[in-house]
Amino acid sequence: MKPLCRTHFACAFVLLLQVAALPSTHDDSHQHGRQRVSINSGWKFKRWEANPDGVIYDQRPDLETLTNVTILKPWVLPSGNDFIEDTSNKYDPPGKPPAINVPYAQNGFDDSSWRSVDTPHDWAISGPFYSQPDNVSIVGGGMGRLPVFGVGWYRRKLDIVPEDKHKQVYLDIDGAMSYAMVWLNGELVGGWPYPYNSFRLDLTPYLQFPGENQLAIRLDNPVKSARWYPGAGLYRDVWLTKVDRVHIGHWGTHFTSRNITAESAIVDMEISLENRGETVSKVQVAIEIFELDLDTGFPLGEPVATWDDRTTTRPNEKMSVQHSLKIDNPKLWGPPPTQKPYLYMGVTKLITKNGREIDRYETRFGLRDLVFTGSEGLQVNGERIQIQGVNEHHDLGAIGAAFNYRAAERKLEILQELGVNAIRMAHNPPAAELLEMTDKMGFLVVDEVFDSWNLNKTDNDFHLIFSDWHEQDLRSMIRRDRNHPSIISWSFGNEVGEQRFPEELAEIATLLHDIVRQEDPTRPSTASMNVAQPGNDGAAFPEIMDVLSINYQGEGIRDTPNYSGTNGTRTPPAYSIFHNDQPEKLIWTSESASALSTRGTFFFPVVDNGGAPVNDSSGGNATLAQVSAYELYSANFGSPPDKVFATQDRNRYVGGEFVWTGFDYIGEPTPYYTARSSYSGIIDLAGFKKDRFFLYQARWRPDLPMAHILPHWNWPDRVGEITPVHVFTSGDEAELFLNGRSMGRLRKQPFEYRLRWDKVLYEPGELHVVTYKDGSFWANTSVATTGSAATIKLTADRESISGDGKDLVYVTADVVDAEGRIVPTTDNEIEFSVSNSGQIVATDNGDPADLVAFPSTSRKAFNGKALAILKGTAHNDEIHVSASSDGLIGGKVIVRTM
Ligand code: GAL
Repeated sequence: MKPLCRTHFACAFVLLLQVAALPSTHDDSHQHGRQRVSINSGWKFKRWEANPDGVIYDQRPDLETLTNVTILKPWVLPSGNDFIEDTSNKYDPPGKPPAINVPYAQNGFDDSSWRSVDTPHDWAISGPFYSQPDNVSIVGGGMGRLPVFGVGWYRRKLDIVPEDKHKQVYLDIDGAMSYAMVWLNGELVGGWPYPYNSFRLDLTPYLQFPGENQLAIRLDNPVKSARWYPGAGLYRDVWLTKVDRVHIGHWGTHFTSRNITAESAIVDMEISLENRGETVSKVQVAIEIFELDLDTGFPLGEPVATWDDRTTTRPNEKMSVQHSLKIDNPKLWGPPPTQKPYLYMGVTKLITKNGREIDRYETRFGLRDLVFTGSEGLQVNGERIQIQGVNEHHDLGAIGAAFNYRAAERKLEILQELGVNAIRMAHNPPAAELLEMTDKMGFLVVDEVFDSWNLNKTDNDFHLIFSDWHEQDLRSMIRRDRNHPSIISWSFGNEVGEQRFPEELAEIATLLHDIVRQEDPTRPSTASMNVAQPGNDGAAFPEIMDVLSINYQGEGIRDTPNYSGTNGTRTPPAYSIFHNDQPEKLIWTSESASALSTRGTFFFPVVDNGGAPVNDSSGGNATLAQVSAYELYSANFGSPPDKVFATQDRNRYVGGEFVWTGFDYIGEPTPYYTARSSYSGIIDLAGFKKDRFFLYQARWRPDLPMAHILPHWNWPDRVGEITPVHVFTSGDEAELFLNGRSMGRLRKQPFEYRLRWDKVLYEPGELHVVTYKDGSFWANTSVATTGSAATIKLTADRESISGDGKDLVYVTADVVDAEGRIVPTTDNEIEFSVSNSGQIVATDNGDPADLVAFPSTSRKAFNGKALAILKGTAHNDEIHVSASSDGLIGGKVIVRTM
């Protein structure tokens, strides 16, 4: 494939197309020829804190004292050969694997005393939390205080039938944390160290006919392996794929498009074929393209285009066929609210000369035109779309890293309500299902692969495998994900340490950029820069990448007086520095703000709109481990949202921002590492909205009439004291009333995003705000001093869920007064219980400092709210959820199961 010219590329790089998603999440066991069988159930599992088996992938700094271990890396490396371009760099195993005596890999081992688990599985999320200080705790706040480290073995018998003798049988693992090594019937098959990529191993040579086939998977998580909570285990789906010897290859379809007009679009298709048999085989390759119904996701009627041709496949050869098709009156994929995410599906069939269908593979894709400009941001189908993005880590709050469709969907729904149109997958590829959702819901996505290259950020992070695996990991991410229309760019690094070392930086960045362009010439490469800049050691970096992803530098790092007391990089507002140096390249802020807050918590006094780093005299309280939700405090290197907005509005060429972060995540609880989860979310870990939600919504959904007042108005100890009142609104003017008296009418000044009444003297009663836009009434809202806590009010996020044991219902408990108003300071201990066909999976309250294990059915309300997450355990029944607490009237809600 021809890489696009580096210098011209970003100038106005027309991204033709888009492609489709493979059938990654569907069990197509009924399809002709190909069977994709979920093997998520029926696993036996055991975890050890220390090495239990005398084998290891490779030497590691944390295990220097471990002797007599057998290193298996030489037999694992060949598993990545398909993703190494230069054949001379592919790995040959040095003979048979060494004879090892690992009982857990053997067929005869009795695993009946091991735990029975289903995947996706996260062995660490149940806790308990480690509560010791960071300097003594084996897992500190950074990794979420949960027992992620150690070795875990998973064992399962495979469903192999005699007919499979004629098939190729693959194991497809969507994600395994980490250093996966796989045995079948006692023989080492291979593995994949990097935990965020999906991978395939060929089980065929190791199968036994007849006989039981025993799969055994060893995972190994070092201590200090991450800067956030990584989770642990087989945390995504596991599949067996059985295909005819002649079949469509792994992630073997690639659909791109070009020449998109209202009348037509050209789709270019490349189909990879593999013949693993012993004979030459002639096959017909037939493709049908269907439009998908926007609501149901099912194909609509007759194909809109078809093609077929015959080809010859030879034993042990891989080959590909290419063709282009015209689609008339194309329906384009684009982000709401101004566009719709239309999708197409390409169905590729392989048919033998006597008419037998031996393979069928579905590829979802979209048609869209992306133009990345240096002056007018990102244009999707001719419309400028300002990036209103967030960063998201992969954990799903209280249920951890184990992927769950509904948990992820709920996150995306809340983000869409906020007005988010883009997500940066920080800092690793997500579950495949998440990208199916972003396609369907119309989010723009940056798919990112590495947080570190050769230089580490924590002692045992994936810098340890970068030199051996960067090519395989980068190529496999792109091959898995390149058909998703939601993906707009590939990021090959986040804030890498090499930014300070010009030669290494240029060499590695060029290598990775070139791989991106080879794998996918239709999308720009990028990498995030928090230090590199034109004019400093990292100057080569912005020259090499296609889109300039800037972290925090745009609005300036530590460049205002309130931040002068903190140590670290100092940068003036830098958008113009980048723009002047690379005027043709699109700039976006891949991480902005790093604003910190705890939902519903307010400290006084309150800083100006320039914000301040959190410390005990400004916005924070180390004893409580909480940060004020006036939404003006940030990490030392960050800025309040208001400053970020102003800087972007002063530099209209900037394509937008990805806020750090949309949701709070487990781990990295800057600034209070005694806690378990972050303070940076616009939304807390439980999914409850912080006040910041409304500051962003006011900007991102300007047409939605809304107004929001902070703080709450229950301050019995502050009577007569200055208690600033801030209003977030999509209007431009507002009048505030306290107990009916006007506190004045204020108008947003240029580059102002909140209205503040900073001299209000607290008195109990009611705050009421009336907002205006262009002089007319726009929205109003009130906040009142409440009575004492009286009742628990339960609300379910859905009236009915599937009883399949996977679907989830999120039940919120609000502690309310006699008039039904949430009492914003309450911390009553709530006991959740369930009867009929439901089970409590986890509880939470969004308090970053709460170290009660997530599965606990008892949870303190935090600032008036708590959450229970439940699954249904039977179809066509009901889940009865109750909540009780001493001194309160209990609550109840009923959810149907389908
Ligand atoms: C950035 C980093 C993120 C996260 C964030 C915390 O520098 O890229 O991963 O650590 O800071 O505010």
